[in-house]
Amino acid sequence: MTGGKASPAARRSANRTSDAGPAPQQSSVGKTLDRYAIIGNPVAHSKSPVIQEAFARATGQRMRYERLLAPLDGFVATVGKFAETNGLGLNVTIPFKLQAFALARERSPRAQAACACNTLAWRGDHWFGDNTDGAGLVLDLTRNLGEPIAGRKLLVLGAGGAARGVAGALLAERPLRVVIANRTHAKAIDLSAQFERDGPISAEPLASLSGQQFDIVVNATSVGLGMSVPAGLWPHRLFTAQALAYDLIYADQTTPFLHWARTEGAARTADGLGMLIEQAAESFYLWRGVRPDTDPVFRLLRAAGRD
Ligand code: ATR
Repeated sequence: MTGGKASPAARRSANRTSDAGPAPQQSSVGKTLDRYAIIGNPVAHSKSPVIQEAFARATGQRMRYERLLAPLDGFVATVGKFAETNGLGLNVTIPFKLQAFALARERSPRAQAACACNTLAWRGDHWFGDNTDGAGLVLDLTRNLGEPIAGRKLLVLGAGGAARGVAGALLAERPLRVVIANRTHAKAIDLSAQFERDGPISAEPLASLSGQQFDIVVNATSVGLGMSVPAGLWPHRLFTAQALAYDLIYADQTTPFLHWARTEGAARTADGLGMLIEQAAESFYLWRGVRPDTDPVFRLLRAAGRD
């Protein structure tokens, strides 16, 4: 995190319930080590192995966690082979979250809402699909950053898969309102309509945001690494005096969105590293039935990024 990150003591573990689905599946003692993996293309850059191995060490779980590079046209075959060789769980990253959703024969309510799965758990004869991204964001905001969502006005920039993955979880925290604004307004309207039964959500054209201010502004667009925010993309003065700007993207340097947010007067900024770790902990809990402490892993990765 950057700017006003909460103290390490505030990044504590929790024993919260989750709608993560049925009881975890673990293989019987004496068999090959239980296998888990991050599947994607590309996948070499992923921090998931470091995170999940740290969780396994800290909780004493005997398991192996790998990187699984699937060919772009070979997701289902790769997952099938993994299941045949003691593969019990997968984290799923780009570009396979929709295919994982299609593959899962059973799905959590939050995966249904997101129409995508970032986590698969083997249930003996089929895959259970979950989506832990929204829970990861909410945990990072509320517990790690100490930023309440209830009663506050939120702006989500973007209306693609990332926005859809977090909208339901944000609404479940009872915000005053969630406004969705996107370059292509029609997609914001669709997204808002999909979630309108879950809470106060609306789509607004970017231009109509001028004059409005928000307590939390979430960047869920792919305007991210390596380039600056194009001038005039988003209106000025979107932030209240105490506002938090949160980027779903994480990076070792300040992201373009967070740089822009600071110049616009956001009081606090945070990138998505905390969310990445929290969503991984939700997956770990689904697989192993044990909730790891995320705080040491956050400190480890943030320190590694500064080297
Ligand atoms: P993801 O799964 O990461 O959300 P996506 O579904 O392709 O990826 O969505 C990308 C989001 O970033 C969309 O909201 C997209 O806006 P459009 O719907 O108008 O395409 C947004 N986005 C990408 N590049 C952008 C840019 N240069 N300016 C503004 N928004 C951008």
